[in-house]
Amino acid sequence: MSDDRDYYTGVLDAVMERVRTHIGEGRVADYIPELASVDPDEFGFSIATVDGEMYSTGDHARTRFSLQSISKVFTLALVMRGGSGSDIWKRVHREPSGNAFNSLHQLEFENGVPRNPMINPGALIVTDHLLSDTGDAVGTLRELMCRETGDPDLHADNLVAASESGSGDRNRSLAYLMASFGNIHNPVPDVLEHYFQQCSITVSCEELARAGLFLARHGRLSDGSELLTPSDTRRILAVMLTCGTYDAAGEFAYRVGIPCKSGVGGGILAVVPGRCTVAAWGPGLDEKGNSVTAAMALEAFTDVTGCSVF
Ligand code: DON
Repeated sequence: MSDDRDYYTGVLDAVMERVRTHIGEGRVADYIPELASVDPDEFGFSIATVDGEMYSTGDHARTRFSLQSISKVFTLALVMRGGSGSDIWKRVHREPSGNAFNSLHQLEFENGVPRNPMINPGALIVTDHLLSDTGDAVGTLRELMCRETGDPDLHADNLVAASESGSGDRNRSLAYLMASFGNIHNPVPDVLEHYFQQCSITVSCEELARAGLFLARHGRLSDGSELLTPSDTRRILAVMLTCGTYDAAGEFAYRVGIPCKSGVGGGILAVVPGRCTVAAWGPGLDEKGNSVTAAMALEAFTDVTGCSVF
């Protein structure tokens, strides 16, 4: 065990070495006004292993940030739980979009069927599906995250959710456009409300790494029960790799080489199947909406550990 600790301490040192002089780079998301107030100089990085160990660095591995689009992996997992998700693929494809995560034009000429579940229209479909399945999409997501982190207090930030709703006309447009094609089954305002709430859940790097560990454990939750079949876990990881960082997915595969999902809160969740999850956070984003320092830290992580699917 102490060998492991020494090994991971070396990995964390290498990550900090790479990132240190870049902390504060990038632009904090401001199209959701409430996110614009986050201090850009914060950085956190955590590795959670399938053996139950946690290794963290940066001053802010325990600071909570807005989950945003990382929630899309968890809602997709909930829709696919127990091998039950095949219907979702009639309503959303699984191809990289090559377009911004909130783009409208592709959705119009592809008849209201989004390219993948990691961009906003695809995630709205998944939330709609989960709402039909459970009656409470955000409650079901919160329950999963609380259980897996062991923290019953994880919750949506109502100020962020209200801010998203206040500036959410593009998401409204996406949802109503899909509804016009018959691809939204619940009332659009209900779907949007659950979507805004799921994005506004706050987590720290340590909590996020722990919450996502089932993806490294081939679908098994912390109590050993199965959320996803091993095959569905592999499929979700494939969607993360090809679509999880929007129109920078090719760049991420090149630089990082493991499945990742980012959010405009500045977090990125990455998975090394069978071994660990990695959560990185830095609020400054690049022009595609991915965190500059979190991406850099993950690149350092795979360079140093050699963990990559390639
Ligand atoms: O809907 C939005 O624009 C934000 N709540 C989430 C955006 C995000 O993190 C990147 N999207 N895929």
